[in-house]
Amino acid sequence: MSRLSGQNLPNAPVASIDVQAIQHNLNLARACAPASKVLAMVKANAYGHGVAGLAGRLQGIDGYGVARVEEGLQLRALGVAKPIVVLQGFIDGAELDACVAAELTPALHSDYQLRLLESHNAATLPVWLKVDTGMHRLGFAPPTLPALLANGRLNVACIVTHLANAGEPQHDQNQRQLDSFLQLTANTHLPRSMANSGAILALPMSHFEWIRPGIMLYGSSPGDQPDPNLRSAMTLTAPVIAVKSLVAGQAIGYGGSWTAPGPTRVAIVGIGYADGYPREIPAQMPVWVAGRRCPIVGRVSMDSIMVELGQLDVEPPARVELWGKNLPVDEVAQLLGSIGYTLMSRLTSRVQREYLH
Ligand SMILES: Cc1ncc(COP(=O)(O)O)c(C=O)c1O
Repeated sequence: MSRLSGQNLPNAPVASIDVQAIQHNLNLARACAPASKVLAMVKANAYGHGVAGLAGRLQGIDGYGVARVEEGLQLRALGVAKPIVVLQGFIDGAELDACVAAELTPALHSDYQLRLLESHNAATLPVWLKVDTGMHRLGFAPPTLPALLANGRLNVACIVTHLANAGEPQHDQNQRQLDSFLQLTANTHLPRSMANSGAILALPMSHFEWIRPGIMLYGSSPGDQPDPNLRSAMTLTAPVIAVKSLVAGQAIGYGGSWTAPGPTRVAIVGIGYADGYPREIPAQMPVWVAGRRCPIVGRVSMDSIMVELGQLDVEPPARVELWGKNLPVDEVAQLLGSIGYTLMSRLTSRVQREYLH
């Protein structure tokens, strides 16, 4: 059955997930903020790590954080009974009804959501009230908060805000947002939540009653420097499906954008942009093959890339590492001018996930 459904067939990219590494990173988040509850951020399919494979496998989580109602419903369907906070809240009455039915806790950030709560007689639903302390993305403006808290018509389980610059702990705006949040919440006894990964690791004053670790759980750094205390959880590999011998002057791939400078061997590797591997890579982007780094050459195709082996002896179905234990995802991201979040979260469903314990 599993072979028929495509599981574990060798010609597939595989993201191997080290569950112990995620547990280690989760324990680190707890140790940084021992008095706080942990809302584990598992939106975007657990940042590409596969929410179905992780749900129920980790200890020490007090609740789960997702972006959208649909992601919350998926978690409930997987049997998750803990609180689930939907950080974008509901967008219409149907989504609000779904929150009520599945006991999801939406974040409220806009007036239209208050009107929906009233018109659906759902005011008793526990909500997280989101206040905009300076990121100017989602959240009520600070002057409106006292009235929202005083009107008694909302069942506020937590007041939440989000930092715009947590990845840069020294950034001035962190302190400004913190001061604003402290002032706004000074007269309430409600739980508060501010810290994502960067703030959990570097801004203890921001921890409050709930922390919301995301990227750090998966072992990628929230800032520009790798964090030696985090353990990388994902290793992405794909198979060599063919090896070509080229002579000087032969061009390879779409547009013939790379030409062999001399006799060389090139591996065709079964992963492409339809799997989520970025098409926009710089020249010489490395992959890890048979214990060393080799460059990707030519254009990334939908289902394959080409890797110059030189005279390295590699044959199908040897596996190539795109990032992971030997090639840090943060390094690959930096070469791309991007961040680990994007690489991991955009892996598509064609990439199989396997869980190592
Ligand atoms: C509202 C909110 N909280 C927490 C997080 C987790 O952030 P990080 O992955 O940097 O820990 C995110 C991620 O984007 C978010 O949008």
